[in-house]
Amino acid sequence: MILKCSRLGHPVLRQRAEDVPVDDVLAGNYDDLVEDMFETMEAYRGVGLAGPQVHLPLRIFVFDSKERDDGRGATPRRGVVFNGTYEAEGDAKLVESEGCLSVPFLGGQVPRYEKVRLRGIDGEGNAIDWLAEGFVARIFQHEVDHTDGLVYLDRMPDLRSLGYTLVL
Ligand code: NI
Repeated sequence: MILKCSRLGHPVLRQRAEDVPVDDVLAGNYDDLVEDMFETMEAYRGVGLAGPQVHLPLRIFVFDSKERDDGRGATPRRGVVFNGTYEAEGDAKLVESEGCLSVPFLGGQVPRYEKVRLRGIDGEGNAIDWLAEGFVARIFQHEVDHTDGLVYLDRMPDLRSLGYTLVL
């Protein structure tokens, strides 16, 4: 089932989402939601989707880095993460274009850490400790930010690069 996406202005995007109990993950209580989130992400041609973006203040996100996965770092290219947090590995940042299903039609240049360590819980309830680089590291930062009530605009030092992705 394709879920309705929240858009910037909805308060659910601006609050810190709640942790998910591990027991609920182990019991499969989120299996249907995860399936719907993958379906929704694919329908909107996104590479990531977080709980607040489907009006749920829960620390959950799905991701699929697709063909842009550069293969660096030992992380899956597609998956679900519960209770995700990240920390930078080093100070290096890369500036690249980002968009967001909750801020439709726009894109901007966003600095992100080149390498991050992602911690959380996977779909089977196992602890995650992934060192991620490049595009998938960018996705993780963008999606964890969603669960912290942040959007990519908050990470832009210069809003002059913000613009419509289709300029006619
Ligand atoms: Ni987003």
